[in-house]
Amino acid sequence: MSFQAWMQAIRERTATALDRRLPLSSHAPQRLHEAMRYACLNGGKRLRPILVHAAGEAAGAKPETLDFCAVAVEMIHVYSLVHDDMPCMDDDTLRRGQPTCHVEYDEATALLVGDALQTQAFITLADTPLQPATVNALIRSLAHAAGAGGMAGGQAIDLAAVGQQLDAAQLEQMHILKTGALIRAAIRMGGLAGESLTPEALEQLDRFGKVLGLLFQVVDDILDCTASTDVLGKTAGKDAASDKPTYVSLMGLSGARAFANDLLSQAQQLIAPLNTRANRLQEIALEIVRRTH
Ligand code: IPE
Ligand code: IPE
Ligand code: MG
Ligand code: MG
Ligand code: MG
Repeated sequence: MSFQAWMQAIRERTATALDRRLPLSSHAPQRLHEAMRYACLNGGKRLRPILVHAAGEAAGAKPETLDFCAVAVEMIHVYSLVHDDMPCMDDDTLRRGQPTCHVEYDEATALLVGDALQTQAFITLADTPLQPATVNALIRSLAHAAGAGGMAGGQAIDLAAVGQQLDAAQLEQMHILKTGALIRAAIRMGGLAGESLTPEALEQLDRFGKVLGLLFQVVDDILDCTASTDVLGKTAGKDAASDKPTYVSLMGLSGARAFANDLLSQAQQLIAPLNTRANRLQEIALEIVRRTH
């Protein structure tokens, strides 16, 4: 199967799995359930589910099992987007080409959508049909990546950094946490779900995940100032307008592009020891740099 067709197949099976795992909008409280569905079932690149499946295939896991991890990490990601867009954070009105959740519904509903998606993610992960010790490791990986030592912590640094210029080490730490942690966890969860990787192979995957997560946010920073709102499906130029420190503000556009290429080579080298099993992961690394939105 071509890489593009394979990614599309993962997007479709993730949409079906999300649909099954989300509460029905015909059940009370309807407005909350409808808003959860609005936030989750409206496109998105589904990069984190794609990473779960790519790492999981490399580790010999079944796609049906990987769906649980894919749904869980995508729900955490969507929750992070819904809250990231709220007026108390980035105050954005457009996401995935549609009005943001708090604009379409209201702020209190958007807050609850995030809360409810977070718990639904862990219910889903707890149902993964694997050994109890593996399920425990999956839950710990995702919880750690979502919390104060991961995404939420990175978001706190991001908000505190408005109007300031961070140095390279501080900026790297912010990006590794706010965006990198979930991407790294997606890869790690795929690896764990195979239940057969050696600790060394898992560690190798994890090092790759760390670089890939940083790379993803560097490219997000670049696209924010080079792509159009139409193509992005979110408001372009938002980082500069909000005076956020980014790799573009730190290094300029060409510096940020060179840094992205450097991270891409690092990622490619880190995944090379897994040989052909990691072909999809190699393709994803390239795709992250080539993407237009
Ligand atoms: C956007 O993530 C927010 C960041 C962490 C940079 P994505 O670019 O993966 O957003 P979707 O899921 O495709 O909408
Ligand atoms: C997003 O960073 C990180 C999380 C949502 C956790 P950004 O604020 O740069 O993401 P976009 O650009 O709004 O998608
Ligand atoms: Mg933000
Ligand atoms: Mg934002
Ligand atoms: Mg951004």
